[in-house]
This record gives sequence, structure tokens and C-alpha cells, in this order.
Amino acid sequence: MQGKTIGVIGGSGFVGRSLVRDLALAGARVKAGARNAEAAKFLRTMGAVGQVTPMRVDLVDGTGVLDLVQGCDAVINLVGILFPSGANTFSSAHVSGAATAARASAKAGVGRFIQVSALGASAGSASSYARTKAAGEEAVQAEFPGATIVRPSVVFGPDDSFFNRFGAMAAISPVLPVIGGGRSRFQPVYVDDVACAMMNALSTPASAGKTYELGGPEVFDFRELMHLVNAHAKRDRALVSIPAWFASFEAFFLEFLPHPPLTRDQIALLGQDNVVSEGALTLADLGVEGTACEVILPRYLDRFRPGGAYNRSRVTV
Ligand SMILES: NC(=O)c1ccc[n+]([C@@H]2O[C@H](COP(=O)([O-])OP(=O)(O)OC[C@H]3O[C@@H](n4cnc5c(N)ncnc54)[C@H](OP(=O)(O)O)[C@@H]3O)[C@@H](O)[C@H]2O)c1
Repeated sequence: MQGKTIGVIGGSGFVGRSLVRDLALAGARVKAGARNAEAAKFLRTMGAVGQVTPMRVDLVDGTGVLDLVQGCDAVINLVGILFPSGANTFSSAHVSGAATAARASAKAGVGRFIQVSALGASAGSASSYARTKAAGEEAVQAEFPGATIVRPSVVFGPDDSFFNRFGAMAAISPVLPVIGGGRSRFQPVYVDDVACAMMNALSTPASAGKTYELGGPEVFDFRELMHLVNAHAKRDRALVSIPAWFASFEAFFLEFLPHPPLTRDQIALLGQDNVVSEGALTLADLGVEGTACEVILPRYLDRFRPGGAYNRSRVTV
């Protein structure tokens, strides 16, 4: 990666931060795009002086896209949203925005393009998130033939929104919700493994034009994931089953909040399996051995234990 210039759109996000760090460590110059370039300035500390440049990029209105892709050897598009907000609709962020990034990259002569989609992306999904992720994949492939698509399952790591959300809930609520029976299956994948898979894809020309499904080494249903939260937060919260229709009714009102903790679309997403499909190319095909949840979760869910992370019984020294 030494001497290469890599554009990372969505570089300030949860997955983007791991990728920018890995690229900088590998010696690449990184142009990191996000709408809020000020808030992305912390990315500079991930490399030597001048190695990482945060840039204002908005895939929806096109701001800064040409500047970012110009001179890049590769571009990775990480932009994704869980709920619409302002001009960021599912369609504008996942479909037309992705197409804009791919088209600009192709025009600028960028060598490689990686589109970060999601497991479960499908035109037939009940979730708009998943349907637009599928349409985004198609749009990118049309604009940049040879683009690599990666589809992660639920991504976990110290700053994730999934385990942290339920950990925080376990800390204050007497119960943890299980929507619609909680039998949908997930294959959580570690954020650093996702970043490593993309690094390896960039240095593997044969990965061009291929789609990879990124899941961790274990499959859990939603109930089992809530048991993991209870175990690592050292709580014993009851799992309470909530029918999907009732959760959707609640979510309807939550959607009026600026950052809704749950939306009807997320409920639809949680209702479908989120595991690597039979015969798909996986993490292993990109040379990555998946890290188990049990290794990483104790490192950050301990903050939700009674008394906090440092409330351990006294050790005699
Ligand atoms: N996290 C998961 O569990 C998970 C699972 C499966 C798939 N994925 C996919 O992985 C990708 C990265 O996820 P993440 O969790 O890292 O997301 P994230 O933390 O929400 O980060 C999103 C990034 O995109 C930027 N962004 C948002 N709208 C933009 C726009 N219109 N133009 C340019 N930049 C924009 C954000 O910065 P600004 O707000 O400053 O613009 C931020 O840097 C997404 O495509 C997501 O769908 C994530």
C-alpha cells in the first residue's frame, strides 16, 4: 500500500475508522470523505503528518466527490444509513449516492472500487435498507464494472451500535426485548476483520468484480445474542418477547425522534436471517480468520456491569 492514494468515503464512521487506521499503517495516503469534515479531523492522528486528509464529501448532492476520487488508486464507499435523515434517504444514500461515487471513480481512472453493502441485501427484502443496498450494488456494478462488493453481517467492536445499544439497555432496564420470537440468525463480524478483508481485497487483483459475504466464525439467533449481552454485562435481565406488530407500532412513534433507537425498517431487517449464504465467497477467501465475539465483547461490554468496568473485587497483591 506504500505510495498509493486511497479514497475512503464514510471514513469517519465506525467501520471507516478501522479501515483508515489500517491503510495509514500500511503506508497509504488516505483521502477520507464525510459530510462533516471538521468532525473527521481526528482521522489525521492515524497517520504521519499530512498522510490522512479529511475532506468534505456529500454523495447525495455531489459535493467534493470529484476532488476526493481524483488521483486515487482505489476508492472505498462506506456510506450507509439505518434511517433516513434530511437529504440522506435510503435511495439517495444507498443507490444514487453509490452510483455517483462509482461513476466519478471510473471517470477519474481509479483502479479499484469497493462498495460496502450488507448481508441480506435483496430486491425482495421487506426492509428498504436491504432493498436499496441491493439496488446500490447493481448501480455500482453498472458504473464501475470490476467493483468489489463486500456484504458484512452485524459488525461488532468497541464503538458498535448493536451490542452497545443492548448493553446500555441491560444497564438500566429490567428486561431486554426480543422482537418476533428472536429466532432470526446473525453472524457478527469483528470490525477489524472487515477492515482487514478490504485491505486484502485491495492487494488481490483477483477480487475485482467479486462479491464477498463477511460473517464471523459463529452464528447466533437474536435470543442468544441477548444472552451474550447479559453475560458480558454481568446482568440477568429477563428476555421479553414482543410481537413484531407491537414493536412496529412503538417504532412508528420513535421515528419522530432525530435519532430513533428503533425503526419499522429495522424491525423488518431483524426479522430476516443475516448469515453468509451457502457457496458465497467469505472472509476466508480474503485471507482473514474471523475473530469470535467472545474474545472482543468482554473488552467493551464490561462498562455496562453493575458499578462499571472497574468495579472488580479486590485482588490481593
Ligand atoms: N455497522 C454495521 O453493523 C454494518 C453491518 C452491515 C453493513 N454495514 C455497512 O457498512 C458501512 C459502514 O457502516 P458504519 O457502521 O461504519 O456506518 P457509520 O458509522 O454510520 O458511518 C457512516 C459514514 O458515512 C458518512 N456519510 C453519511 N452520509 C453521507 C453522505 N451523504 N455523503 C458522504 N458521507 C456520508 C458519515 O459521516 P457524516 O455523517 O459526517 O457524513 C460516516 O463517516 C455502511 O454502508 C453500512 O450500511 C454496517
